[in-house]
Amino acid sequence: MKTVGVVGLGTMGLGVAQVFAQAGLAVLATDAVRAVRDSAQERLATSLNARVQAGKMTPEERDTILGRLIVVDELGSMAAAGLVIEAVVENLATKRDLFSKLERVVAPEAVLATNTSSLSVGAVAEGLVQPERFLGLHFFNPAPAQRLVELVRHPGTSPAALKAARQVAEAAGKRVIDAPDRPGFIVNRTARPFYGEALALLEEGRNAAEIDAAVLSAGYRIGPFSLIDLIGADINLVATRSVHEATGRHPRYHVFAAQEAAVAEGRLGRKSGRGFLFPELPGQPPRDAERIVARIEATLVNEAGWFLSEGGVTAEGINEAIRLGLSFPHGPFDILSARGAGPLHALLGALEAAAPPYLKGRYAPAPILTEAQ
Ligand SMILES: NC(=O)c1ccc[n+]([C@@H]2O[C@H](COP(=O)([O-])OP(=O)(O)OC[C@H]3O[C@@H](n4cnc5c(N)ncnc54)[C@H](O)[C@@H]3O)[C@@H](O)[C@H]2O)c1
Repeated sequence: MKTVGVVGLGTMGLGVAQVFAQAGLAVLATDAVRAVRDSAQERLATSLNARVQAGKMTPEERDTILGRLIVVDELGSMAAAGLVIEAVVENLATKRDLFSKLERVVAPEAVLATNTSSLSVGAVAEGLVQPERFLGLHFFNPAPAQRLVELVRHPGTSPAALKAARQVAEAAGKRVIDAPDRPGFIVNRTARPFYGEALALLEEGRNAAEIDAAVLSAGYRIGPFSLIDLIGADINLVATRSVHEATGRHPRYHVFAAQEAAVAEGRLGRKSGRGFLFPELPGQPPRDAERIVARIEATLVNEAGWFLSEGGVTAEGINEAIRLGLSFPHGPFDILSARGAGPLHALLGALEAAAPPYLKGRYAPAPILTEAQ
């Protein structure tokens, strides 16, 4: 494949365009907004200049890469693309409409991919004339720096389309992991307890600084509240809500009042200047740091266990996706091996017994933990 297409040149689309331009492919790119199209070259140059300044790229390489981004005004100019990835607004109707137009433009064997974070890939595929060449390629932000890409099939995706998408993403240096078409795919679903259990602890009276400090002391690069502050409390809330709704409001994805309040009051994190912790930093770990970490990790293992039990994914896939997608020091099944199913099962049992009525069922152990008893 020599040419890819990118539709939507916001945060993700421009990052995805950079990934493929850096890998030597021609990138045909467009956006519905003229000003966004017009600024794309300059924004890509700014991103690449940072690499030049860091000594990771020569000015000549930068110019070659910039020359590979071809911004076009019309979807009709994307006919040469062997793969088109969309990163437009997260709206089902918009995405369906876009793909129904795109499939009339590209060659019959071209692959079409969505970068959606929260929509069902199968739902986006509905109504396509050739749904077999449609799939999800879920990049993480910032796309040039994040190695992980989740490859998502819907029931009708063909092996040929999956192979082609995997090959081109791998050739661009990505680690491609198969993910089932379920809310949050692997990372955004199985990471929920990292935030959720920290919020449960907050609700019980612990403070964000000590929870983050405890997690840092266990080798994590960033604590849950600092991570929410980085992502944006609003974005993080949407992710939790979408899994909560899609699972019939299961208490494992309970939406905590503290987060709703933070969003309602505009305490969104870095982007608004104030968050759960930001601009403060985590302090010294509390004396019971290990207990805090054990609790958060037990719920991470349990979530991964439930996810595994639903099928379409391997323990290795979950482990690697979590390590890469969140830069965690270990995946949930590494934690399971290290801590053992028995102690994790017992800890979840104690948490379930102490849970308030609206959280009952939150700590029900996954089959992988009960089977080992
Ligand atoms: N931001 C993230 O961290 C992240 C991570 C992974 C996936 N995603 C997904 O990527 C997609 C884009 O997210 P983003 O954060 O880059 O959004 P963004 O708002 O930064 O960019 C979206 C762009 O799409 C353009 N657009 C809207 N409708 C269009 C249309 N019909 N045709 C062409 N262009 C159109 C907009 O003008 C805008 O420039 C979403 O589906 C999102 O869920 C986002």
